[in-house]
Amino acid sequence: MDRTKARRIKMQEKIILTGIKPTGRPHIGNYAGMIRPTLDMISDNSTGQNFLFIANYHALNSINDPALIRMYTYQIAACYMALGMDLKTTSFYRQSDVPEVFELAVILSSVTPKGLMNRAHAYKASVDINNARKSAEPDDGINMGLFTYPVLMAADILLLDATVVPVGKDQIQHVEFTRDIAGYFNRRFDTNFMSMPEHSVQRSIEAIVGLDGRKMSKSYGNTIPLFEDSAKRRKLINQIKTDSMAPADVKDAQKSTVYQLYAALATPSETQQFHNLYISGGMGHGEAKKRLADMMDSMFEKSAARYNDFMSDPGELESMLRRSSDRAREKAVAKIEAVRKIIGT
Ligand code: TRP
Repeated sequence: MDRTKARRIKMQEKIILTGIKPTGRPHIGNYAGMIRPTLDMISDNSTGQNFLFIANYHALNSINDPALIRMYTYQIAACYMALGMDLKTTSFYRQSDVPEVFELAVILSSVTPKGLMNRAHAYKASVDINNARKSAEPDDGINMGLFTYPVLMAADILLLDATVVPVGKDQIQHVEFTRDIAGYFNRRFDTNFMSMPEHSVQRSIEAIVGLDGRKMSKSYGNTIPLFEDSAKRRKLINQIKTDSMAPADVKDAQKSTVYQLYAALATPSETQQFHNLYISGGMGHGEAKKRLADMMDSMFEKSAARYNDFMSDPGELESMLRRSSDRAREKAVAKIEAVRKIIGT
């Protein structure tokens, strides 16, 4: 077989799947670090299968306000739609609309050793906090949703035979666990029915700085919301801390939040131009902030209008999500039927 043919077949077999937890309003860090790279990956995989879902049951172990989960779910749905996600090549769904996931999670629970869950970073971090607080119970405040989080995530991935799972660095362990769990299932039932997914790490997510120069994160309160109103966004950008360098001074690109944000969003040539003007000396912080705000205005103007349209019509989002979950659902039903045959239920 010649090389191009081999490559084409490999491309056709690619099944990309990723989940987004609805735990907050999407911000610029999410956009540049995860949303945009994922959309790019999906549009490169138009010959394969793509699944993108809103992991609302994963959010349930940390958010218990129903109105908030609903709102964050719509915000994520509206956000991907506004950014031009192609529903022809991607099945976009809400985790809860594909209930086969939960059946598979129960099945996988009985092949997964508890010890594996004990080793999960997120669980261990919560136990460490309790121990540092000297609480009498190391599992204080930890629900089973958090403890078995990796099993549910394995079910998401294995149900649809995903081969590539785009994630941030903090999720690598979960994809490794998914392979472990697939292996436990396959050995227990002497089959190779569960696929072995690979993670694809979005390193870009580390690189997005927030308003205070630390990593942009909801927990630091230093985010610029995606699709923010232009005037509000400009205000936020004006709050970015800068040093006392004069316009003509040569600045430190690594330490300049304004420059870093610009670079995270703009094309390489726009970034180079901005570097020449600002970092190499010639432009002051005020003007640089103005250019950053201008760039975001033009970058998000059209998608922000679409986003607002979607957000003002949750009924339309609902029916879109339902329609779009069909492909995932169909595949999920077939997979679960086959799993039941294998396990004898
Ligand atoms: N745990 C992921 C996160 O917090 C979200 C997620 C849930 C996910 N299920 C998934 C990601 C399956 C990839 C594949 O970011």
